Amino acid sequence: MKSLIIFASGTGTNTQAIVNHFRLDQQARIALIVTNNPAAGVLKIAETEGIPSLVINRDSFKDERLIETLRAHNPSLLVLAGFLWKIPARMVEAFPGKIVNIHPALLPAFGGKGMYGEHVHKAVIASRSPASGITIHYVNEHYDAGDIIVQAHCPVRETDDTHSLAERVHQLEHFFYPRTLEFLLG
Ligand code: GRF
Repeated sequence: MKSLIIFASGTGTNTQAIVNHFRLDQQARIALIVTNNPAAGVLKIAETEGIPSLVINRDSFKDERLIETLRAHNPSLLVLAGFLWKIPARMVEAFPGKIVNIHPALLPAFGGKGMYGEHVHKAVIASRSPASGITIHYVNEHYDAGDIIVQAHCPVRETDDTHSLAERVHQLEHFFYPRTLEFLLG
């Protein structure tokens, strides 16, 4: 069976959607959940689901031994699901074409450093753009700049605030991220 490693910093609703999907699909298993945040909701998910987890800090993130730890799981994909640190070039080189990220807007607009979570939705609403959506893309050594795999759109309504737009975008994420991973696993 193929293995996925998930990187996440927050609540982990995408992580939960991916775990749920592959529990039924059984094409892959989640071998490890990595977080930089000891208070992250994803750790609770890991515990409940019986998935091994790893909490990293700035030093261990850059340490060559982390790459060895990840390699030991022989992952088909490294899946970033709300992971806030930039992936070091060495890790990108160690897993060529195997690291994917999801961004809560239509890249290349509304991406880059500092563009995460509510900041993204605030910028989209301020721009009066009629649409937003999600972008699933490969990861390179720059923020939100790797090749795009898939995008899905949703409307931005006049009445939207960051909360209502985030909710609509999250729904797209939960549907498309697991299915895109399944597609990539082939
Ligand atoms: C998602 O909106 C994702 O696009 C972004 O971070 C958020 C993570 O949400 N990269 P969750 O922790 O999976 O709920």
